[in-house]
Amino acid sequence: MRLRATIIVMLGLFIANIAASDSQAEAKSKMQKHSFGKTEDGQQTDIYILSNNRGMEAAITNYGGTVISLKVPDRNGKFEDVVLGYDSLDGYATGKAYIGATVGRYANRIAHARFILNGTIFTLAKNDGDNHLHGGFNKRVWTARDVSSSAGQALELTYLSKDGEEGFPGNLSVKVVYTLTDQNELKIDYSGTTDKDTVINLTNHCYFNLAGQGNGDILQHQLLIRADRFTPVDAALIPTGELRSVKGTPFDFTTETAIGTRIDQDDPQLKLGRGYDHNWVLNRGTAGSLSPAAQVYEPHSGRVLEVLTTEPGLQFYTGNFLDGIHGKEGKVYKRRYALCLETQHFPDSPNHPDFPSTVLKPSQPYKSTTVYKFSTR
Ligand code: GLA
Repeated sequence: MRLRATIIVMLGLFIANIAASDSQAEAKSKMQKHSFGKTEDGQQTDIYILSNNRGMEAAITNYGGTVISLKVPDRNGKFEDVVLGYDSLDGYATGKAYIGATVGRYANRIAHARFILNGTIFTLAKNDGDNHLHGGFNKRVWTARDVSSSAGQALELTYLSKDGEEGFPGNLSVKVVYTLTDQNELKIDYSGTTDKDTVINLTNHCYFNLAGQGNGDILQHQLLIRADRFTPVDAALIPTGELRSVKGTPFDFTTETAIGTRIDQDDPQLKLGRGYDHNWVLNRGTAGSLSPAAQVYEPHSGRVLEVLTTEPGLQFYTGNFLDGIHGKEGKVYKRRYALCLETQHFPDSPNHPDFPSTVLKPSQPYKSTTVYKFSTR
């Protein structure tokens, strides 16, 4: 009698246990959503938290399609947030550094904020001296939808950039899908369609510090860029049009090199950028295929970030303009406290017919994919 009672109790406990772990799994398998507050003009914004079965988490807001935090393990399994950000919506609304944002309609610079397309001159908003830089997608409220699948938790963000917005032609309908896979990859799929010929160049502007956000500068991070050439710039950081070999210059990252080793060398290009702020011409196999572009290793934590992309270029920026920004959790972001690896078409392509084209036509939808993959060594 007693034995039977014990067995029944144990069985009960066992079932309860299964149910508990099931509901935990369920909680984990669902994307979390909470309010990030309202914009000045009353639009609701939210934070979506994507997680995977290895405990990695990506927090993304539909304000600017912005990555707010990325929690990834170090070689001992300790999780840390490896991207810069702000604690509140206000930080993103007033910030000027494009932290974590989806950047467009044209990432990077367009000289003198103008270009000619099909014989017509288009004049753009000047927001970087005489130039147009990055566009305004980072300050818009995007429409969000949970599109999770067996590939991982996924957030779709859409935005309609109206004909004439910031001077660009065509109603451009843009979609960005963030997917967090169980391989610790944050995959970003961009797509878009237009109703008139236009130009497009989308990227993500995460500022990475693999030692943890706000934990010092990135000069000891070791970088590899799969590129034999880069696009040298003029004083306004506009490409001169030359594709220059990196050989024998501080721009040679074809073998893993600490970022700080040569950043302050007396090199005219480094002086113009106040450090690295240049576009590398990626060595590619088939154009448009997803290929490894760069890799960063942080020796203390052991964290490794690999960047794969379908894009022909990569802007490597060492946070030279970070000037004491008050960021998340009381951290202050000083010069070179983070690095950006912005996959893109080359800067000022609309004014360089020799560069890979950024023209988008109604008959041909835009597509671009970038993967940020985390691991340890
Ligand atoms: C890009 C540019 C930099 C700087 C940052 C944003 O990476 O190339 O010059 O403008 O964005 O601060």
